[in-house]
Amino acid sequence: MSVYRHIVVLTGAGISAESGLATFRGADGLWNNRPVEEVATIEAFERNPAYVHDFYNELKPEVFKARPNPAHLALAKLQKEYPGHVCLITQNVDTLHEKAGSIDVCHIHGRIDQAVCLNCGQIMEATGDIDTQTACPHCQVAGMMKPNIVFFGENLLDMDNVERQLHQCDLFLSIGTSGIVFPAAGFVQTAKYVGAETYEFNLEPTSNNFYFDHHIMGPAGTTIPQFVDKLLQAATERKS
Ligand code: OAD
Repeated sequence: MSVYRHIVVLTGAGISAESGLATFRGADGLWNNRPVEEVATIEAFERNPAYVHDFYNELKPEVFKARPNPAHLALAKLQKEYPGHVCLITQNVDTLHEKAGSIDVCHIHGRIDQAVCLNCGQIMEATGDIDTQTACPHCQVAGMMKPNIVFFGENLLDMDNVERQLHQCDLFLSIGTSGIVFPAAGFVQTAKYVGAETYEFNLEPTSNNFYFDHHIMGPAGTTIPQFVDKLLQAATERKS
């Protein structure tokens, strides 16, 4: 195992599966009984905001009671103990990386515990329900609150930072993502083009895996702690 200067980790719903949260496209997936077009597009929100609010309000308690699993904990440990920089980018709207102790997590698809006011642009904590009447505590305008979740048809968040991180990385890890949703699915290509070594961690082979050098199959709760231990061991050996 080499020692790296700048590690970029991309996580998807699969890393939270062992915490009891449904993935999007699995057999009992979140998108299995609700068409994406009804709850996760900006057009759906424009058409029927009450329905979209209800969906995320119902989801919140389930997400908030979930606890980080060994994969989240191992990544937090890597951030804390690795001598190089470790940047964590997640597509997940849960906050299990933060609950595991990770810092500076880049939430490109937003966070379920936040809302954004479409009138003034303020992002705020919103752990309780929001609806079509909720007033913004910042500008006081009612009815303009949206879950701070990136819907299909919207820009991803924090992409300047993501691009900067990807252009510096020498190790790229993709964990528990189907690699179907762009632009996140294309991050590996950027990493590969700048010369990074690339790893994919998943339960099964994915369809978009051309740019990965290594594929590690198995549950992230097992494979990630093992891989993090190897990285930390290599760094310790290098020092001594
Ligand atoms: P998906 O549901 O598309 O894919 C989850 C992946 O995790 C699959 O490839 C599974 O095989 C894998 N997986 C499941 N359990 C695992 C485990 N224990 N260990 C390792 N891998 C496991 O979820 P995402 O790729 O995250 O966007 O989906 C991307 C985006 O699509 C989401 O962020 C969401 C959705 O539209 C928004 O809501 C904005």
